[in-house]
Amino acid sequence: MIITGKISEVREFVAGKGGRVGFVPTMGALHPGHISLVRRCRDENAVSIASIFVNPTQFNDPKDLLKYPRTPESDHRMLEDAGLDLLFEPQVAEIYPQENRIEMDFGPLERVMEGAHRPGHFNGVVTVVSRLFDIVRPDKAYFGEKDFQQLAIIREWARRVDFPVEIIGCPTLRESDGLAMSSRNIHLSPAERAAAPLIYKALNMAAVAIRSSPVSIVAGLVRDMIESFSGFKVQYIEFVDSNTLQPIEQYIPGREQRACIAVLTSSTRLIDNIAL
Ligand code: PAJ
Repeated sequence: MIITGKISEVREFVAGKGGRVGFVPTMGALHPGHISLVRRCRDENAVSIASIFVNPTQFNDPKDLLKYPRTPESDHRMLEDAGLDLLFEPQVAEIYPQENRIEMDFGPLERVMEGAHRPGHFNGVVTVVSRLFDIVRPDKAYFGEKDFQQLAIIREWARRVDFPVEIIGCPTLRESDGLAMSSRNIHLSPAERAAAPLIYKALNMAAVAIRSSPVSIVAGLVRDMIESFSGFKVQYIEFVDSNTLQPIEQYIPGREQRACIAVLTSSTRLIDNIAL
């Protein structure tokens, strides 16, 4: 596996290889969820590239950026074991030699859920993804359904600018007790970690209950179940159409719908979602 922080080296490597290029952007602190994307990328392309870049423009809370976990040695080992060809690990100045933030209005898609609670977040994500795509020029790029709204916004951005890339959504990997794997899970206290499977349990309960009960009742049940642990606060629980991400008034059989949630803990914020 080649590791480089230089844009020119990534471009030379890609130009010298030929064949389909697959790409997995990450912020590091890798876990098996990230690696499932890397393996799929490696299996489906002639050349597999991943990036590790903790992107300052997408953190609306400076404290969150400062404490974002960094585990370069274990990241390198996991990527090497997954059979990755090239890891791009740039410094901030390589990606942002000057201020060039993309400000695109994604309309209703970004006015709900994460977009509503993290102002500017998705413009920061799109800014870095666009920069990384210009460098790597991938044929296929892999994103997790764990960040369901991010996936929808990146699809929408690629469609609008007509970027020649296939965006591939990959299922959420979970711990054996159901907690969605996340780099932020290491911030959980032992008691919070023990209670965290409540989130997926509540989502599964909701997926059943929504078939026979109104959204507002089910949302209340989800809140009660998760907040039965006093350290958790449900920031939002939304039942949405999977394509528009707009709230549904009631479950419609046969349509793709999703329940999405954000939970605040003493030290971090967990998000998850489930198909209905
Ligand atoms: P990061 O949080 O590091 O996630 C990188 C990719 O891994 C994202 O596509 C995310 O959805 C996916 N992922 C995270 N946890 C997962 C899990 N448990 N199962 C499956 N996939 C999972 O998302 C970002 O970084 C950044 O916003 C980025 C797109 C890199 C732009 O900076």
